Amino acid sequence: MQLKIYKDYHSLSDAAANEVIELVKNKPEAVICFASGETPRLTCRLLTEKVVKEKTGMGHCTFIGLDEWVGISPENEGSCHYFFQHEIFKPLHFSVEQTNLFDAMSTDPDDECKKMDKVIFDKGGIDLMIVGIGMNGHIGFNEPGVSFDNYSHVINLDETTIIVGQKYFKTSATLQKGITLGLKHLQQSKKVLLLANGAKKAAVIKKTVEGEVTNSFPASIMQTCSNGLVMVDEEAASLLDLQQ
Ligand code: PGA
Repeated sequence: MQLKIYKDYHSLSDAAANEVIELVKNKPEAVICFASGETPRLTCRLLTEKVVKEKTGMGHCTFIGLDEWVGISPENEGSCHYFFQHEIFKPLHFSVEQTNLFDAMSTDPDDECKKMDKVIFDKGGIDLMIVGIGMNGHIGFNEPGVSFDNYSHVINLDETTIIVGQKYFKTSATLQKGITLGLKHLQQSKKVLLLANGAKKAAVIKKTVEGEVTNSFPASIMQTCSNGLVMVDEEAASLLDLQQ
């Protein structure tokens, strides 16, 4: 795992957007997985600007959505679907055929997991994953206690995720389960960028980078990922002992 510390959220997001642009220039049919949430929002906006300015063709990429709240409809502003539609698909003019999201309204969520894993395997694996980190160390909905060996799965949400997750919703949402790519996908992806910004993420970044590798703090798996790059701003890095 590598660590890079950026001056602020903007320069961190700019660097993450550049990673996508560089990948797509070298491999137009790249398979790219994005998380939703507050952290990657600026990366998405800067990526859109760059794609327009540099006329980067993303029409041959395959997009994978990292996760979704089970039972939350795609029209709900707090859903990951809504984020992907508005921050990525519409601005980048992605076709429906290019995009792969879990249908969290499905009556058979386990089948959704099988379908997602099949897309990833059939496409030859994920080239780039851009993920955030939760206040309990989750990545996607890989909650504390999750196996490092899971592919896509349905999981009971941790108490912290249920409480913190309300920030995405206009009115209180019933959050119980999540559907998510697994940490095995993270290990097998050709490159993983874990982004974190702000002082509120400093403690979880310290545990990610310097803590014990344990499934009770899932993001610690990054330490075992030779394909992993932890990208943080100075505030999120403020508790680290490590020097860059
Ligand atoms: P955030 O979410 O980017 O909104 O902080 C991170 C996460 O819970 O994975």
